[in-house]
Amino acid sequence: MFSSIEKSGSVQIVKRNFSWGEDLTRIIRVVENHFEDFNGNGFYPHPQEEGLQRELLAIPTLRDLGEAIGSQNVRGVAITDLGLSHLSEAHRNAVLYAIALTRGFPTSTDQRTKRVAWDVRAKKVDPQTARFTTFSERVGSAEMHTDSSFYPMPEEQFLLYVVAAARCNGGESLLIDVNDIYQELQKTREGRIAYSLLTTREVPFRVPAVYAAGDDKVEYYLAPVFHHDGGLKIRWRYDSIMKGLATRPDLSSPELVDAVELVNEIVERDAPRFQRHLPDDTLLWADNHHTLHGRAVYTDPDRHLIRIRISNTPNARRIGPSGISAD
Ligand SMILES: [Fe+2]
Repeated sequence: MFSSIEKSGSVQIVKRNFSWGEDLTRIIRVVENHFEDFNGNGFYPHPQEEGLQRELLAIPTLRDLGEAIGSQNVRGVAITDLGLSHLSEAHRNAVLYAIALTRGFPTSTDQRTKRVAWDVRAKKVDPQTARFTTFSERVGSAEMHTDSSFYPMPEEQFLLYVVAAARCNGGESLLIDVNDIYQELQKTREGRIAYSLLTTREVPFRVPAVYAAGDDKVEYYLAPVFHHDGGLKIRWRYDSIMKGLATRPDLSSPELVDAVELVNEIVERDAPRFQRHLPDDTLLWADNHHTLHGRAVYTDPDRHLIRIRISNTPNARRIGPSGISAD
């Protein structure tokens, strides 16, 4: 399926070496048959997603691609020259939805519209309202984080597809393996204390106010930053934790704040990271429980990516909101 280009830490960079042939048309036809409208080309979690998944997995190229992504045994895979750039927005997003469905169950990014395929690009915003935009809706950098960190069931995986890379030498995609954060923390006494605290204590992750159900109600979710479950996992969003601790001082302490600050320094500065300018028509698959992601500074307002979050659990069995457009 792939020609290997290089491996950078736990991220594999490959190039597509298969032909989609007639299967691209078959995929689009199956998806079209299940969606009366494409929901603004964003789709939504299909009510019969397990049946649709089975139908799509009968298409050999799609099945093999899903298996190839899963068999890399890495935390991220970037597939260049995916071969979708000639498609219309609706058909391209249909294929991306189908690829996501081979790996699990795509979730809604937006609770109001239920969109699954989310456009990551700068919005043309009025400076007056700029404070309401999120990482995915503005130029600049995005701090390292895991998606849906403030909800009960962060999705296990996500896909990013590059429609138009930044033309300004910026906007590189960043990934950090949780094991590299752990290794950094083990180097110092303060680091070992921080790791121990953030493994045993739950911290409040504040839900960004603009997305919380009621503006007058502060919402947060309690969870440890590090968690062992068949390997070390992480849940991280620095601003959400700091705001959570500010609203729940009873859960805070100077030691805990020091631990959060230390991890923030490590993830923003010290830990080794995958940092790559992904070209147009690249698909990045990443593990949202074992890596942090972010992006480097960019200024090109035409940079455009599509993001789809994927749960290992069907949507009908998920607990809590399935995600938000932030991050
Ligand atoms: Fe994100």
